[in-house]
Amino acid sequence: MYRRFGEVDAAETSPLYERVAVALSESEEALRAIAAAPARKRHPRVILAALHDLALAGRAPALAAAYAASDNEAAAPAAIDTLVGMTDLVVATAARRRPRAHATGRCAVLYPAIAEAARRAGARAVGLIDLGCSAGLNLSVDRVGITYSNGQSLGDPASPVRQSASIVGDRPLPAQAMPEVVARVGVDLEPLDVTDADDARWLRACVWPDQPEQMARLEAELALAATAPPLLLQGDAVELLPGALAHVPTDALAVVTTTWALSRFPLERRLRFLHRLDQAAAGRTVAWVSAEGVGVAPAIPTLGDRRASGHSILGLAVLDRSVLRAEAVGRCWSQGRLLAWLAGS
Ligand SMILES: C[S@@+](CC[C@H](N)C(=O)[O-])C[C@H]1O[C@@H](n2cnc3c(N)ncnc32)[C@H](O)[C@@H]1O
Repeated sequence: MYRRFGEVDAAETSPLYERVAVALSESEEALRAIAAAPARKRHPRVILAALHDLALAGRAPALAAAYAASDNEAAAPAAIDTLVGMTDLVVATAARRRPRAHATGRCAVLYPAIAEAARRAGARAVGLIDLGCSAGLNLSVDRVGITYSNGQSLGDPASPVRQSASIVGDRPLPAQAMPEVVARVGVDLEPLDVTDADDARWLRACVWPDQPEQMARLEAELALAATAPPLLLQGDAVELLPGALAHVPTDALAVVTTTWALSRFPLERRLRFLHRLDQAAAGRTVAWVSAEGVGVAPAIPTLGDRRASGHSILGLAVLDRSVLRAEAVGRCWSQGRLLAWLAGS
């Protein structure tokens, strides 16, 4: 598994992790240490993040120095030494944590869809609820500055966080700004609190050490989120949705967002999620903006695209007194780095 991870998964993007993973695969001692972790926590992504976490915490200085210098040759023995010498700590971190996706940079696709939801609902204020929120970075969507390859820009031009996306096709994005955001609520089975040093370090630890751009993006988004941290609710998103909605003032439009999260829910839970939205919309207008793989978000049209075709559908559903209007307003690729806007104005 480690050799394969190094030679296949890491090879293209991280020469450092390629070298380290292959070195671990060739060390009997390292493999024995990895075997001390629970079976489902032995994956390279978890163990390597746990090692990185120790390095960032200042507990593995040789490994930290090799990672900071992107020194592949020094990193391999340092990783083995750390793993073998601190097996209990590595295993404890791996057992407690799950590897996190790089949940940065989603705002370029979310912003125009949320603004469009607000326009359609005639809303003067919105309350954001992100389901499967991880660290809740999507909840800063109105506070980042976004530029698009067609010359449009959205969001806060003075923001220290800049995001961008390439526009595919010639249909412009809706130009209107998102109304004031009056609530930010994130729900996750294991939310990470950006104001908690351990949680923030774990997010950093999940970035591969020789990906400085990814790390810089994360640092900037963490710093911004920490200045207006969201309310985090821990638990199943479907169960907690009514409670989350209760945090949005009734005179604001509740906008539920999901980005690459629903695929983690069994189909039955996804349908139940839609049912819960529908129930909530009996008493107030609710919008749902989704960026999910083709066919993953229930009720959102697939435009005839094949499932697992490598791109995602940007969905917008507005539920008003339980009348559902669901539309595919865009396609996106590379988790939002490329966007084709499809909806008319
Ligand atoms: C692939 S990550 C996506 C995170 C983020 N939305 C993004 O765009 O990268 C899926 C997230 O959904 C969360 N999750 C999975 N099942 C869940 C559930 N039933 N209720 C709430 N969160 C869940 C996981 O903990 C994880 O943080």
